[in-house]
Amino acid sequence: MKGIILAGGSGTRLSPSTISVNKHLLAVYDKPMIYYPLSVLMLAQIEDILIISTPEDVNRFESLLGNGESLGISITYQSQEDPDGIPEALVIGEDFIGDDDVTLILGDNIFYGQGFTTLLRKAIQQHEHATVFGYRVKDPERFGVVEFDERKKVVSLEEKPDDPKSDFAVTGLYIYDHHAVDIAKHLSPSERGELEITDLNKEYLEKQQLDVQLLGRGFAWMDAGTHDSLFEASEFVKNIQQRQGFKLACIEEIAYYMGHIDKQELMQIGHFMAKTDYGQYLIDIANRRHIEQYWEEFDSHPMLEVTKP
Ligand code: TTP
Repeated sequence: MKGIILAGGSGTRLSPSTISVNKHLLAVYDKPMIYYPLSVLMLAQIEDILIISTPEDVNRFESLLGNGESLGISITYQSQEDPDGIPEALVIGEDFIGDDDVTLILGDNIFYGQGFTTLLRKAIQQHEHATVFGYRVKDPERFGVVEFDERKKVVSLEEKPDDPKSDFAVTGLYIYDHHAVDIAKHLSPSERGELEITDLNKEYLEKQQLDVQLLGRGFAWMDAGTHDSLFEASEFVKNIQQRQGFKLACIEEIAYYMGHIDKQELMQIGHFMAKTDYGQYLIDIANRRHIEQYWEEFDSHPMLEVTKP
């Protein structure tokens, strides 16, 4: 399974903050926005990741995350000339995807909830053709909307409908087989001049190859694309972290618990930012005498859902 993070776009709804800074490099509370989708892919056990951004911004992501070595994964970069639509990520990533399946996540999407990692890993294991995730929202007309029949079978998908047939939005996390690349290549732009991910998903639906998994009320899904939603996301992250003492989307912690990096490597990264709470958090984790100290308290790591070995 390959992973792609799409982190281009124009970010016009966050102007003027995004005039000279890419949206996905803005902070959501204590870390750059891109850490959140990156953590989702890492928790899904995906180790080969492509980040797609604008030609001007690709090197900024590279200076932040490098080739992924410090996280024990591989990260490569490609650029999208113009923000012509989400499915273009699959066309740009054609060689990277090859004959593999691919999980595509939008760079401004934040997922959180007990059981999310387990749900995602299961979805990847059981995945056949295309899997998307539905989430109940108050304003479905802003999203791709999925309609179900009484047996919870998907009957339609509509992009930003005036009159939504349900309250379930399709989130920015998609799992596809490699055929998605060919489908994406043959899509035509919509009235707003973009290739639409809903059109791609519809092709799978027509072949009865689309699985929609619903994220229930215990999950939080946010996109941080407007000033208000960015602020709310930051507030949400701060509250959860302060309550629980665990950080969300701490990519170095995930790398450590997943066995990609060792204690010394974690300590080194922590010391590099020792003046921050983030750095201290990493140092604290590295200072635990044994990883087993966690397992003594919990059967699984409460944030990462890594089960006791
Ligand atoms: P949007 O929020 O729809 O668009 P945007 O990021 O350009 O912002 P705005 O509407 O404020 O101008 O994009 C959703 C996500 O997908 C976001 O993380 C950016 C990314 N994206 C691309 O990288 N390339 C694209 O062509 C599109 C359409 C989106």
